[in-house]
Amino acid sequence: MPLIAWTDEYSVNIREIDNQHRGLFALLNKLFDAKGSNQEREILAGILSELVEYTETHFATEERHMKLYDYPDLASHIKEHEAFIQKVADFQQRFEDGKAGLDISILNFLLSWLKNHIQGSDKAFGPFLNEKGVS
Ligand SMILES: [Fe+2]
Repeated sequence: MPLIAWTDEYSVNIREIDNQHRGLFALLNKLFDAKGSNQEREILAGILSELVEYTETHFATEERHMKLYDYPDLASHIKEHEAFIQKVADFQQRFEDGKAGLDISILNFLLSWLKNHIQGSDKAFGPFLNEKGVS
């Protein structure tokens, strides 16, 4: 069973962003499956890098849309993104240095952050952008 499955409750009603969120779920599931099948550390590190890179690309997409239309909560939204990237990058470094393992607490953190962020802050800009004609 995947760690997280896409349902409409995660939709922000903007196709490009929904597709990227699906991509993030897929990478999180890939990481979870690799961990579950006891893949080597190097494989896990590779998937973790993919997840970090994809997340950065995705945040840039969201921020580009919000900037373009002067979204009022842009600054706080960017702060949320930055805090997440910082936390995941710190973990990634510790993982690569062999000082941390990919345990359930980090997977749970990634999962719950993503769910809460999409269903809170991301869903908040959906209607704002829809009104500007972005869909
Ligand atoms: Fe976001």
